[in-house]
Amino acid sequence: MEPTVGSITIKSFMPSSALPPGPSLFATFDFIRNPFRFLDTCARRYGDWFTVRVPGVAPYVFTSDPAAIREIFLGDPDALHAGEANRPLGAFMGERSSLFLDAPEHLRQRRLLLPAFHGEQIASHADAMRDAADNAIASWPRGQAFPIHPQMRAITFETIIRAVFGFENDGTGAELRELLKNLFALYSSRLGTLFSLPAMQIDAGRWSRWGRAVRLMRQIDAILCAEFARRRKEGVEGRADVLSTLLSARYEDGQPLPDNVIRDEMYTLMLAGHETTAATMAWIVNRLVTRPDVMERARAEIFSVLDGKQLDASHVGKMKYLEAVINETMRLDPVVPNIGRGLKRPMTIARCQLPAGVTIAPCIYLVHRRPELWPNPTQFNPDRFLESRQTPYTFFPFGGGPRRCLGAAFATYQMKIVIAEMLSRVELKKVDRYEAHAIRRGIAFAPSDGLPVVAIGSRS
Ligand code: HEM
Repeated sequence: MEPTVGSITIKSFMPSSALPPGPSLFATFDFIRNPFRFLDTCARRYGDWFTVRVPGVAPYVFTSDPAAIREIFLGDPDALHAGEANRPLGAFMGERSSLFLDAPEHLRQRRLLLPAFHGEQIASHADAMRDAADNAIASWPRGQAFPIHPQMRAITFETIIRAVFGFENDGTGAELRELLKNLFALYSSRLGTLFSLPAMQIDAGRWSRWGRAVRLMRQIDAILCAEFARRRKEGVEGRADVLSTLLSARYEDGQPLPDNVIRDEMYTLMLAGHETTAATMAWIVNRLVTRPDVMERARAEIFSVLDGKQLDASHVGKMKYLEAVINETMRLDPVVPNIGRGLKRPMTIARCQLPAGVTIAPCIYLVHRRPELWPNPTQFNPDRFLESRQTPYTFFPFGGGPRRCLGAAFATYQMKIVIAEMLSRVELKKVDRYEAHAIRRGIAFAPSDGLPVVAIGSRS
């Protein structure tokens, strides 16, 4: 009998031990140029399973079979190593980042991070998120095109500095902002992706890109270490930021986290948190400006919920249609289009036999476009999320299983606040002849050319 997910029968087609076929190295370059087009082409040509090969890296076996996704998310974390698969993501985060750890170290560290991402903790950052949005929106030009993605990055960057690091914009806080901005400018550039290759990490002095990154990291680390010491001495009582939570956290044996572990987690949260959320908000704007009817309905809901008051934590849970707009955007434009798990032993996943050493890559983008799961899959229709509930194997923009994104609730909360604030303050218009395609920016895929739009409305 064929395996099923809900009422859908999944066709198994690959009982052999050979890897599924896939694109040539030349065709794979399109993953960098236009990742969504690349994935569509592979799915058309090869179906639910295909192998992507890049020299020097284990083969990536992509799957968009929901039965396989379920098995992967429920599978043994000792055999499915996400940390190993995440390695190519970053050079700055450090060896001890939870993104790169695997069981049992991963679980041990993730447990200590979790309390900082509970509902109450997140809600305590609502005003910081709103203020960051207000400051940026007030600075946007009116009546002329400007790229909105960098603006979204400025908002998420500022929010992470406040909510995760707990730094005000003064003295040391201002210095840290400047250094981190310079570091991420290097990382988020087109060439920055290459930093993840050890061969590119050559410190040829301050004039080389990696040399500049190393020097910036040294300065940032010095500021962070001094801050750790200060907060340990003065105490962190009454502070809601993630750094303070980590400084007071203890392993089961009562030991505090060493400075180098906290340092690596800080870089991780900064990188994993701000690029992804900013790129997603840019895609939301792209969907809204191309669908004024959806924009108007979202705006009407926001005005009705706010009822003339300033947006705060009490309003966020009431914006149901806005949440559906966010989800529908993450369905069609997932900024992380696939995740990965390195196989530590041979496994059969949804009847596909795979050898140890390959990386299996659940493809978020392709599962989100399966016509039997999502009728009229390319149509932007937020009502889908109001009318039916999704499973964690058919809708997973934040990944899944024991590795599901730690900041999912934080990100959704922030996106609701920023988009609500934006729609309550300005009208946004599409720029003629602009059509977005996805390009890589840091660890996320964002709309091309920064997504130019036109804002209309007063600055107050
Ligand atoms: C829209 C915004 C975001 C998206 C689309 C996103 C997406 C993801 C995805 C796909 C993963 C991999 C999950 C897996 O392998 O199954 C992940 C992991 C992670 N994300 Fe996010 N993320 C977002 C925002 C954030 C934020 C705001 C933070 C923190 C401030 C964050 C922190 C993390 C961390 C720490 C991990 C590693 C979790 C682990 O391995 O245990 N993310 N994220």
